[in-house]
Amino acid sequence: MTMAPTFSLATSIGDSINVVAVPVAKGPIILGDGCGPEIDAAFLETSSFKGKPGETLVIPGATRTTVMVGVGPAAKVDAHVLRRAAASVVRASWKRTSVALCLLDAVPEGGDREQATKALVEGAGLGTYRYMEHKSDPTPCKITEVLMIAEAAEHGSLQPAIDQASGVVEAVCLARDLVNEPPNSMTPVRLAEVAIEVGERVGLNVEVIDEQAATELGLGGLLGVAQGSDHPPRLIKMTYYPSNPTGSTGSVALVGKGITFDSGGLSLKPADSMMTMKSDMAGAAAVLATLSVLPLLKPAVKVVGYLAAAENMPSGKAIRPGDVLKTRAGKTVEVLNTDAEGRLVLADALALAVEDGAEAIIDLATLTGACVVALGAKIAGLMGTNDDLKTQLQEAASHADERVWPLPLPAEYRKQIDSDIADLKNIGNGRYAGALTAGLFLKEFTGKVPWAHLDIAGPAFVDSDDAWVAKGATGFGVRTLLAFLDGYVAVSHDEDAIDDEVGDED
Ligand code: BES
Ligand code: ZN
Ligand code: ZN
Repeated sequence: MTMAPTFSLATSIGDSINVVAVPVAKGPIILGDGCGPEIDAAFLETSSFKGKPGETLVIPGATRTTVMVGVGPAAKVDAHVLRRAAASVVRASWKRTSVALCLLDAVPEGGDREQATKALVEGAGLGTYRYMEHKSDPTPCKITEVLMIAEAAEHGSLQPAIDQASGVVEAVCLARDLVNEPPNSMTPVRLAEVAIEVGERVGLNVEVIDEQAATELGLGGLLGVAQGSDHPPRLIKMTYYPSNPTGSTGSVALVGKGITFDSGGLSLKPADSMMTMKSDMAGAAAVLATLSVLPLLKPAVKVVGYLAAAENMPSGKAIRPGDVLKTRAGKTVEVLNTDAEGRLVLADALALAVEDGAEAIIDLATLTGACVVALGAKIAGLMGTNDDLKTQLQEAASHADERVWPLPLPAEYRKQIDSDIADLKNIGNGRYAGALTAGLFLKEFTGKVPWAHLDIAGPAFVDSDDAWVAKGATGFGVRTLLAFLDGYVAVSHDEDAIDDEVGDED
């Protein structure tokens, strides 16, 4: 487990601090006062450093190092700019131990200093992440202490922001660790153990449905996918109960695809496509991590997480293209491609969420390569049956600075998942619109419950660092879900809207 630094407030920079970060606006214009050493502004002007967002200039000093960090146009400094700047600072200070951030000096007059503080903690905390569990000679970020410089009068209002954002950082790092952990140790059984450990530590109700219970419940999608693997599946249910429920008495269901390794099954993936397939449980990891911090953040709504965990392997016991599975909802599915396994395990988890009476369902899944083709590695696809829910999620994502983009669930394409011999088949026709036919398949299991689906196949696992986003597992979705739950307003059950948008063609 990677340890993020501790964050605290201070009014001045003590002797033990070895790095001071000073914000510089486009110009370059040094913002704030009294923080850094005397900087030769005239010289800075002649340098190539222009104060662009995230740009850094390291000035080694006799007693301590100054990191000038760009924040772009002074009037436009917001939480997103500061999150990025803080991440740049810690990346530039990787081997130092204590850093003072004078970055609140960059917040424009009247700006929200609590949001700014949260963003700084997130950027600095997430920027220090690197997965090195299996390195004999690890090179972790050495920073153990980050000071946020602010006037004493502000400390009372900023401390809760620090506490909350520290919890958020821990949650995102937990999601990253779960996904980065190799698939020989992060099995469905192990994921369930982690859920239980986390639940006991933070105070969540955790229920684990093992293969026997799954058989009794008729979770045919989950069992079908898992049957080729030596590792049995788990359906993990984690519940957060608000202490002071206000407003809605319902609950939000968060459903995560938890394929701990996706070989494709008998519809085997090519070797290159398999290399990152330990990341196919990123949706489940994001849901687990989100639940893990709810007792600290205390949203007012009940939240139930459903993690559909299985391993997709080829073997003499594996499902075959052509097999028919019966799902929890009673619908039968002809499996024509065993690599389209995510929708099979999610079908059962979504059905359970509907049965449990969720008032809104959000699922996160590394569901389709087609979504990566459409939107690339940094943007998730957003689909769903309720405009209000989708709008709330989009706003939450924009608050978290995680990119999501709406995709349609076209009624015209629904017949592509009709099967000749069963109720549904698990692939569309041909290569086109794969993200949409996958979404249409999931929709079949959401009943009349407002539902939104995030296809995170692109942004869940990336091949390079970018600001607070780490190479490998990113923890994408955790901060969006947390922002969503924080601002959640019960969505209206608009059945007509569902039919208008995605009703059957015939
Ligand atoms: N886990 C993959 C999707 C994926 C691809 C995630 C790339 C992350 C990066 C999923 O199970 C899958 O293989 N989907 C198939 C569906 C197809 C067979 C209909 C795909 O996208 O090719
Ligand atoms: Zn697959
Ligand atoms: Zn998959």
